[in-house]
Amino acid sequence: MSAFVKAFDDWIRGPFVAMNTELEELYFAQADRAAVEKTGGETKRKILEEGRALVIPLVEEGNTDEGFDRAYELLGNLGLYMASLRRHELTNPAREERSPHTEASALGMHIAASLGVAPRFATSHLNMFNKAVDGVAKSFTSLADEHLFLDYNTLGIFAFKRAAESIRRALSLGVSHKVTKSLLVNAADALRDVLKYNDDLYAKLDTERFFFSVRPYYKPYRVGRHEYRGANAGDFSEINELDLLLGLCRANDPYYSQLLVDKMLFMTPQDQANLRDAMRRRSLLDEFLSCVDAHSDRDWFQENARAFLETCRLFGETAARHHHNLVAKFIVGPSQTLEEQRLEQVTASGPPLPVLLRSLEKLKDLRCAAPREDMQTRSKDMARLAAALH
Ligand code: HEM
Repeated sequence: MSAFVKAFDDWIRGPFVAMNTELEELYFAQADRAAVEKTGGETKRKILEEGRALVIPLVEEGNTDEGFDRAYELLGNLGLYMASLRRHELTNPAREERSPHTEASALGMHIAASLGVAPRFATSHLNMFNKAVDGVAKSFTSLADEHLFLDYNTLGIFAFKRAAESIRRALSLGVSHKVTKSLLVNAADALRDVLKYNDDLYAKLDTERFFFSVRPYYKPYRVGRHEYRGANAGDFSEINELDLLLGLCRANDPYYSQLLVDKMLFMTPQDQANLRDAMRRRSLLDEFLSCVDAHSDRDWFQENARAFLETCRLFGETAARHHHNLVAKFIVGPSQTLEEQRLEQVTASGPPLPVLLRSLEKLKDLRCAAPREDMQTRSKDMARLAAALH
């Protein structure tokens, strides 16, 4: 790690966290917690200037290419800095045509273009690539609720990854292989872990703290001329690999393919490659359906198809609880108390809340294979498969 990279990393893990936390405490103590523009001017200026002084030598040093992880971590640190400037209203894409933070933008674009990712911080900077130092992982603040949120995101994401790994292997062995059932059971167990982690998060996270002091760091911001949507816990490939390989979503569905295109650069290059591969495969659901007429009486079909349907049911349940529990409690509920103008700035991805909610609802219904008049889901296909079981 070059001396400049290390100095920036030390700052991100130390003074940066302390200053963000100090500002969050000031905002949170106000009658109007969302009115952040006029509070903590001196501390905001320190974040901006101390960060800038550390970024300038990094721009001059260039991408020293000490391997993917190192460059990706540096991009993450830079992204945390820029997201904090956005959170404290030191930049706002709605009132600017380009980022006023030119050095940080230049460094972000340089590293990101060389890696093949978006030039902003993405969710994997705070989970998969978040190396802890002496027991403490990177974060914006030292607030307990932020650490809780990050830890449970990480646990949930790794559990989804475990599920997808088993489904990939099941597809390679095929729907009639004896071992396929145990792979489907492994995937189901991993999805039960997702449900458990998300239920724990639902019970433990403080709604007001999350909404007013954590979520605002996940807003869109500009890097150079372009605005990049906020990070969210869904920016990893395995969630979509599960969609596609189970067969609940199709890569040629216009709504779903848009979602894949939009999220590609928010994932690591490895995840991008895995997702591309999944887009070219035939799903397990289609494989099972192609066997219904000729083989549904076979033991392997009965056992494996039953295990498959249970895995799909659990996957749908993760989407349903994300929507009805996490999104409803931590975003929709507190949004109702906000004024119209501030509401526009609430969602991480950028669109107004009702638009975002409709989109998440579609995704949930695809994953649950729920019957819908206005769009195609796999509801009838799942019913046909279920009807073939004794
Ligand atoms: C407090 C907890 C959480 C809340 C309030 C929440 C809320 C949201 C919202 C509002 C979105 C839409 C993107 C946007 O903001 O623009 C989203 C996306 C997503 N979240 Fe969460 N989320 C939470 C935790 C999690 C966890 C723990 C996971 C699982 C690892 C997860 C998985 C996803 C996925 C997969 C997406 C992308 C949509 C998709 O492709 O499925 N979320 N979340």
